This record gives sequence, C-alpha cells and structure tokens, in this order.
Amino acid sequence: MEDLTEAGLREGISEVIATTQSRAGIPNAAPVGILNSDGRYHVRLYRGSRTIANVEETRRLAVNVTMDALLFAKTLIGNLSPSDFSLFHGFPVLKEANSWILFRCNQVEEDEDSLLFMLYPLAVAVIRAGICAINRGLNAVIEAAILVSRWRCGHVYGQGQEQEHAHPHQGEGMQVQMQLARMRDYERIVARCGGRREKEAMQLLMDELYKTHH
Ligand SMILES: Cc1cc2nc3c(=O)[nH]c(=O)nc-3n(C[C@H](O)[C@H](O)[C@H](O)COP(=O)(O)O)c2cc1C
Repeated sequence: MEDLTEAGLREGISEVIATTQSRAGIPNAAPVGILNSDGRYHVRLYRGSRTIANVEETRRLAVNVTMDALLFAKTLIGNLSPSDFSLFHGFPVLKEANSWILFRCNQVEEDEDSLLFMLYPLAVAVIRAGICAINRGLNAVIEAAILVSRWRCGHVYGQGQEQEHAHPHQGEGMQVQMQLARMRDYERIVARCGGRREKEAMQLLMDELYKTHH
C-alpha cells in the first residue's frame, strides 16, 4: 500500500482529526487514532458516534493531520463551524490541516462496542509541511482529551488497552478522584509548557469535564 509517512502517518497510532459526511452531505469532524503496522492502515470506531454512522453510510473518511491542540479539543466537544471546512475531491476536510488523506473504508471486524475498518487511500495532499519539536503541552492536551472522551462515554472507549488507572476493586468515587488528579497534572504541564492554543484547548476540556461530571 502507498506509504503515507510524507503525509504524516507514521508507524504506530497517529492521532488525527477524521472528517466524514452523512449521506445528505453534512460534514463532521472528530479526533481518531489511525493504526499503522506493516504499511496497512486501520481505524477502530466505537459505536454511537456521528463518525461511525457517517462511515457506515458513505464508506469514506478523510484524515486531517494537525498539531493544533485547539482543533482536537473543539472537534471532541463538537463545535466547528462550516467555515472551518474545505472540500477535497468533493469531501469535507479541515482548512487548517497540514495534510489530507481521503480513504475508502472496508469493515474487517465487528464486536459489541466497535467496528474495525481497513483504510485504502484514494487521494493525498500535503498542504503545508512543517518541522515541529515535541511540545509537552500538546501531548498533555491529547492525553486530557482522551480522558474526557472516555469519561463522557462511561469509560467504554479504549478501556481494554490501558487499565492502569482503573482497577476493578476501586469504587466509582475513587476512580473519579484519580481521573481528576490526572487532569490536574495535565493542566500543570500545559500551563508550564504549552502555548496559547494548548492553554485554550485545556480550558475547553476542563469546562467539558466539569459539565460531564456535575
Ligand atoms: C485523541 C483522541 C483519539 C480518539 N480516537 C478514537 C478512535 O480511534 N475511535 C473512536 O471511535 N473514537 C476515538 N476518540 C473519541 C471520539 O473522538 C469521540 O467519541 C467523539 O466525541 C466522536 O465525535 P462524533 O460523534 O462527532 O463522531 C478519540 C478521542 C480523542 C481525544
């Protein structure tokens, strides 16, 4: 299969923004992880999202590669405006992304919580290639976004893989305290290492967390 390293998808899991559209053409954007091993690309979509509904309808998904923390927070919480989208081969993508990859999605597995799709690239565009050093603030925002996302859907999404903070013998209250402590750690890292976009993103995530929790 085509090597998509130039477009930003490396070996392992790449956190990106997936854009999709409904059969009626309504665009949607949400963070997802693209799995790449042996040059093959997959995405596991958890049931209940707009993204999975759109992929089931159209069998198409565009990957938008970005280092913008705020895009991750905004698309997770769900408020992009139509003017944030542009069209690539007639398919919605994010104007501000560094690259776009339009994929055809073939379902290869199904379980109670999720569907696994193999991804076949149909079109690729590198919009802006940039060199970026690692920023711990950005990393912390991504971790915080994943935590908020899992929390919102009752700890279902991705739970099997990372159990270190959710031991079965701990009560609900204890788990909430641990999650809050992790969020505060991420907040501290963002305050120290992040730029304005990371700080704004973290604020949105904290607001969402308290909304979900209270
Ligand atoms: C960094 C990150 C990665 C994510 N990866 C996935 C994923 O691979 N599959 C998935 O179904 N949800 C994933 N999520 C959760 C979705 O983004 C989340 O459920 C979102 O609210 C779905 O939005 P939608 O209803 O607009 O599709 C991820 C969230 C974050 C923050």
